[in-house]
Amino acid sequence: LPIAIAALVFGYLLGSIPFGLLLTKAAGLGDIRSIGSGNIGATNVLRTGNKKLAAATLLLDALKAAAAVLIAWYVLGMEAGLIAGFAAFMGHLFPVWLGFKGGKGVATYIGMLLGVAPWMVLVFATVWLLVAKLSKYSSLSALVATLVIPVVLWFINEPKIAAVMAVMTVISWLKHKTNIERLIAGTESRIGQKD
Ligand code: G3P
Repeated sequence: LPIAIAALVFGYLLGSIPFGLLLTKAAGLGDIRSIGSGNIGATNVLRTGNKKLAAATLLLDALKAAAAVLIAWYVLGMEAGLIAGFAAFMGHLFPVWLGFKGGKGVATYIGMLLGVAPWMVLVFATVWLLVAKLSKYSSLSALVATLVIPVVLWFINEPKIAAVMAVMTVISWLKHKTNIERLIAGTESRIGQKD
């Protein structure tokens, strides 16, 4: 149990670093939470017009989750790696520093995959890019990709990882509530669109 708690705290703290907010602040772009969707993720950072900053946000948010998995795995064992990765995802979604109002967990989801099943990042990226190409919706691409991942993991006989990712999919979908409403209403903004 102390190992699980250590993994939880470590993952959470790493995951709760809001790179999108920090990078846009550092670049003098103001508070990302008052731009576009108000989200702290890479998709919304792209709405500032700064592609490099958006890419850096995606990368750093993903890497913090991957780092949580791999460091905890290396130091405390595989179970701890899973716990730390999940905690990093939760830390990104509910960061104590931002009054628990965090992101939607797409980059940290990818980072978790990078740590626990790296080849699945390719599956995620393929699905995401395909849906994005067809629809130009970042949210829809993430919704579909996060739906596909647990199914594929199940079929390739990784039930434990599939279960953890399925829970993360449900939580991320819940965080996408307003996006889903906008998609249905036809008012969701397309990738790169300012609002
Ligand atoms: O990938 C994040 C995306 O799914 C939603 O971001 O800013 O359009 O709400 P946003």
